[in-house]
Amino acid sequence: MIATLRPAGKLEGEIALPGDKSISHRALILGAIASGASHVRGLSTGADVKSTAACLRALGVEVGDSTIAGRGMRGLLAAAAPLDCGNSGTTMRLLAGLLAAQDFASELTGDESLSRRPMDRIVEPLREMAAAAGWPPLRVGGKTPLRGIEYQSPVPSAQVKSAILIAGLYAEGKTAVIETIKTRDHTEVMLEALGATVNVDGTRVEVGPTESLEPLDIHVPGDFSSAAFWLVAGGLVQRSHVRLLGVGVNPTRTAFADTLTSIGFQIRRSNERFEAGEAVADLEVVPARELRPLRVNGGLSARMIDELPVLAVAATQLPGTSVITGAAELRVKESDRLAAMAEGLIAMGADIVAQEDGWVIHGPRYLEGARVNSAGDHRVAMALAVAGLIADGRTEIEGAECVDISYPGFFDHLEYLC
Ligand code: S3P
Repeated sequence: MIATLRPAGKLEGEIALPGDKSISHRALILGAIASGASHVRGLSTGADVKSTAACLRALGVEVGDSTIAGRGMRGLLAAAAPLDCGNSGTTMRLLAGLLAAQDFASELTGDESLSRRPMDRIVEPLREMAAAAGWPPLRVGGKTPLRGIEYQSPVPSAQVKSAILIAGLYAEGKTAVIETIKTRDHTEVMLEALGATVNVDGTRVEVGPTESLEPLDIHVPGDFSSAAFWLVAGGLVQRSHVRLLGVGVNPTRTAFADTLTSIGFQIRRSNERFEAGEAVADLEVVPARELRPLRVNGGLSARMIDELPVLAVAATQLPGTSVITGAAELRVKESDRLAAMAEGLIAMGADIVAQEDGWVIHGPRYLEGARVNSAGDHRVAMALAVAGLIADGRTEIEGAECVDISYPGFFDHLEYLC
């Protein structure tokens, strides 16, 4: 599908975003091994979360629109065929942790993009836990019991941390993950809500062997990483006023909003509350004032890794030189996001150079509509759509259907707000 965008006069209105993708995956996976029925409203309707639901069904779990019939810690059944994780790294890595601890073997496959992504980062620690694990293709499980480990994670990755912690629920002794930077903590928060013993000490998280998990009851908050596109668009398009309702504002996810605020964006929070341990708020954005250039380094990049593509779009409108470093992980996401964003923004007239681990961007530059490519990557497609709203003339995005991975309805929301 080719999406066509025109410059926006202003963005105005109130929207509720799709359910948080990270929390939705975890609700399905942990709900599947809880004892009894979990009630999960507002699950992400994106294709990635559907991949997790489909894999769990293949493992014998009944998953409805908002219910999961938990089979208990030992109730999963071996799937009849390899489990198709589609485009979803979270599905593959978190399920690998869970399935490594089962007494049957599983194979996990995915689309072309997922098949290229690194899985040694989970295979190695799972092997240290005495699990059977190999890649490629990704095969885990069939050798138990696992043993608890203390793992210093070399990459800041919540997917790696979560895979190890989930495997750790089944291991003998304690399992701890120590990170260099605290990544999103939804697994720890949810495990605690389900009655598991989780000890968190700074960037160290520890779980112990767990006999049973209580069922979950949660309304999944809106996805902050989807809100990010409107925070940038609303801040850059004059006269805008956008309200985003019920957004997850877990502090391990909101470094991006703090960064935008530090360079002149106007973002207000209201109606703050908690949902199953997760912070939620409404966000309101109006046009930015007195913009300043950006400096983002490794630690900060890791804490807003999913928002960096749209941050690059914002940086094209900042005065001076903006530098984003420490983001080499972007090269192994659904696409090589450093290359894909530089290519699209250069075609639109931006002054952006992709470095090994980030971008250097000189601004502000007028952007011109152009034909650009999503590289099959949902966040690239949506970030380029935001660029299209601030560009002169017509922008066409090839392969725009991939927004369905995390944000079905993105273009409907865009039309409504414009
Ligand atoms: C996710 C963690 C991040 C993020 C992804 C979702 C998660 O990946 O990019 O969209 O739900 O744990 P990494 O942990 O590999 O950085």
